[in-house]
Amino acid sequence: MAETLLKAEGSKKERYETLLPQIASLIENESDEIANMANVAAALMETFRFWWAGFYRVKGNELVLSPFQGPLACTRIGFGKGVCGTAWKEARTIVVPDVDAFPGHIACSAASRSEIVVPLFRGKEVAAVLDIDSEQPRAFDDTDAYYLERISRMLSRP
Ligand code: SME
Repeated sequence: MAETLLKAEGSKKERYETLLPQIASLIENESDEIANMANVAAALMETFRFWWAGFYRVKGNELVLSPFQGPLACTRIGFGKGVCGTAWKEARTIVVPDVDAFPGHIACSAASRSEIVVPLFRGKEVAAVLDIDSEQPRAFDDTDAYYLERISRMLSRP
């Protein structure tokens, strides 16, 4: 079945409010996590035109590149490395207003200026992270963290 995203307009909050129920209905009847991550990355990108939006999944002691939208990216990130590996290690959302000021930031793309990484869980364990990059500094705030964590909960497993 073809899926079309309703155009989200207005403030950041209004766009997330339009997007979230659509993401919920996109993923509710699909059990495959890769398929759901792929559509979530596409929906986020279509709505916000970020520089990069996608997932890394935990495999052993590394994060491995998974569905994304945007330019080519690093394929593997170690536990505690970069923003993604730190969000995994600390099991929490990390907002980075200025990537140059984050010690150990991994520059997959020199164009990225700010970033947010949100963990996805299987039980209490981090199973993956959602990573979003912007070419604008300070692009992400508590509103992004709030809504992206709601999206993360939709993709997380008990
Ligand atoms: N900047 C991330 C690496 C992933 S890319 O941004 C897609 C990091 O420091 O973990």
